[in-house]
Amino acid sequence: MKINPIDWDGNHKQGRAIIIDQTQLPAREEKISIETPSQMWDAIKALKVRGAPAIGIAGAYGLFLGVRNAKDKEDFFSLLEKNFHYLKSCRPTAVNLAWALERMKRKASDEKESTLDSIKESLWKEANAILAEDREVCKTLGEIGNTLVKDKSNLLTHCNAGALATSGYGTALSVFFTAFACGKKIHVYVDETRPLWQGARLTAWELQKENIPCTLICDNTAGFLMQQKKVDMIFVGADRITAKGDAANKIGTYSLAVLAKAHAIPFYIVAPLSTFDFSLESGSQIEIEERSPLEVSKPYNLPIAPENIPVYSPAFDVTPSQYLSGIITEKGIVHAPVTKEKLASFLR
Ligand code: MRU
Repeated sequence: MKINPIDWDGNHKQGRAIIIDQTQLPAREEKISIETPSQMWDAIKALKVRGAPAIGIAGAYGLFLGVRNAKDKEDFFSLLEKNFHYLKSCRPTAVNLAWALERMKRKASDEKESTLDSIKESLWKEANAILAEDREVCKTLGEIGNTLVKDKSNLLTHCNAGALATSGYGTALSVFFTAFACGKKIHVYVDETRPLWQGARLTAWELQKENIPCTLICDNTAGFLMQQKKVDMIFVGADRITAKGDAANKIGTYSLAVLAKAHAIPFYIVAPLSTFDFSLESGSQIEIEERSPLEVSKPYNLPIAPENIPVYSPAFDVTPSQYLSGIITEKGIVHAPVTKEKLASFLR
């Protein structure tokens, strides 16, 4: 698995962030270079880099780029504050972005007595650490999730919680990569994931690259497959998980979870601890990003609806914890019933 959706090229003085432009996939694997916070903001907003852990890493590098040329410490901390709020405003639902930016800000504050150059270098190293830690965490998620997967299973996933959505191995897809690497004969149903087809464009591409047998389905086919007993388990990622285990993920995840419960199919969220937001009690408190109507009526410039048709386009929905069979984290699996008490004692 050699997909590096986000990386750093060079050192802290002259380097730049390099991202795979995910809007070009699967047609082209094109890398773009990011040298300013506003380029990073635009790339995150346009989903050139996307997926909760990946936008956290991107935000961290974006914040470093915003302070790299500070003239003195006063300038540094004022640029830090300004770019922190600017980058945080880009996408509101995935908490990993805010989590990474807050971690970067804490690092700068811990180092405030050092020289300007050494604070800058520490901040760059912190962004590198966020990326490196995510790689380890994704591998662990795969190993833990794999313990649930039986040989010859038919699995299903929604959106893209793969290498592209993280530092390079994925959360939900890490489970599939690990199971397949262990010799399990799995087959994956891939929800195309409207409106922007992250399933069709990205998940199908990643699974094919690894030669994992998979079948692309329209989102509305999943229930029919479940009714026919063709799905054994479902694994998806998450963008924010509250204290009681309600999980925001790509729009359409909630419908899948309800269908899974109706058909007694295990439904798991796979997410790192950086996706938990213990400051929110319940899913109704999660801010849901609304995207441009054109992503629904004219996706990728392809008109598929009458012009000026009113459109409602939330990017995420929230699955209440009672629909989950469990949440797979790097610390282990929180099995159903997922409750606030269990999560608190297990994860803190
Ligand atoms: O709008 P996107 O493509 O950023 O949405 C991504 C998802 O919903 C993923 O499932 C989620 O971020 C988990 S990624 C490991």
